[in-house]
Amino acid sequence: MAIATASVLPSPRIFRKQDELSPLSPQQEEILRLKKERNAVILCHNYQVEPIQQIADFVGDSLGLAYKAAETDAEVIVFCGVHFMAETAKILNPGKTVLLPDIEAGCSLSDSCPAEKLAAFREANPEVYVVAYVNCSASVKALSDVICTSGNAIRIVEQVPADKEILFVPDQNLGQWVAKLTGRSMKLWPGSCYAHVLFSKQSIERCRIEHPDAPVVAHPECIETVRDLADEVCSTEKMVSFCRDNSAETFIILTEAGMMHRLTREIPDKTFVAGPTDHCACNDCRFMKLNTIPKLLDCLKKNEPVIEIPNDICHKARLPIERMLEWSK
Ligand code: 13P
Ligand code: SF4
Repeated sequence: MAIATASVLPSPRIFRKQDELSPLSPQQEEILRLKKERNAVILCHNYQVEPIQQIADFVGDSLGLAYKAAETDAEVIVFCGVHFMAETAKILNPGKTVLLPDIEAGCSLSDSCPAEKLAAFREANPEVYVVAYVNCSASVKALSDVICTSGNAIRIVEQVPADKEILFVPDQNLGQWVAKLTGRSMKLWPGSCYAHVLFSKQSIERCRIEHPDAPVVAHPECIETVRDLADEVCSTEKMVSFCRDNSAETFIILTEAGMMHRLTREIPDKTFVAGPTDHCACNDCRFMKLNTIPKLLDCLKKNEPVIEIPNDICHKARLPIERMLEWSK
C-alpha cells in the first residue's frame, strides 16, 4: 500500500450550508410514519450521517442524549449512535425497548477497558474512586462510582471528594485534559479513541496555512499536542455554541466529520473545515457510520436489534449514571 505524502494529501473538506435541504426520501418518510405508529423516539448522536440527523427527534452529544433518554415518555427508543450510548438509554429505561440500527456499532475506546480488567484493578486497589467516561460498557459502568461525558467531565471530577484517589477510565486523553484543568492528579486508563488520535500537530498546522484566521476547535479525545494548539477544547455540543458566539466566519473542527452537518444546519452563515489527518481529508468514525437509513427503517419494521443488559448489571450501572445527571445539573 502506498504511503501518502504531504504533497499528495487531499485538501481538507469544507462544509457550508446547502441552499436547500434535500426533500425527504420515501424511506425517511416511512421511518417517520412507523415511528409515530410505534410511539418511538429517535435519538441521534452528532456523528450520524446527515439523512438520519435530518429526521431525528433530537440530535446532540452524549450528555444531551442521556438527559433526553432519561426524560422520554416514548415506549421505544431508537438510538442512532453507538452501542454504549444505547446501553445508557436502556439502563435509564429498563422497561422500554431500546433499538440500535446496527448492533455492530461499537466503540474502540469502550473496548479498550474490559470489565474483567477493571474488576481486577478494583480488587487490588479497593480505595480507588472510579470516574468512567460514558464511552464504556454497561459492565464497566456497573464497576464505577460516577460517570462523566466530555461535556461535564471537569464538573464531575471537581465534585469527587478530595481525599479520594481517582482512576479515570477509559480515555487517557480526556483524563489528561481534565487533570490539567482541575489540578487533580488521577490515574489514567491507557485507552484512546482510534479516530481522534489521528489528528496530528503537523496535519493541523498544514490546514492552518490555508485558513490562518480560523479558530481551531478540538474534542478533548485528541492528543495533547493537538489540544495545545487549539483555540477551544470542548464536547461536540459546546462546539455549536462556541462557533455561534465567536465572531470568526470559518472554523477548523477536530472531531468526527458528522459534526459538520449539525454545525452547518444550526449556524448556516459560517464555514467549517473538517480537520484533516496525515492520511485523509477528514475523519469518520467507522462505528458511527454503520447506522444507515435502510438499517434504521429495518429496525423499526422488525423491532430489532434490541439492547439487552442483565438485570444486576443494569441495576448497578444506574447509580453512577444518575449521580452524573445529578452532579451536572
Ligand atoms: P461527545 O461527548 O462530545 O458527544 O463525544 C462522544 C464521542 O464518542 C466522542 O468520540
Ligand atoms: Fe468511540 Fe471514537 Fe467512535 Fe467516539 S469517535 S464512538 S470514541 S471510536
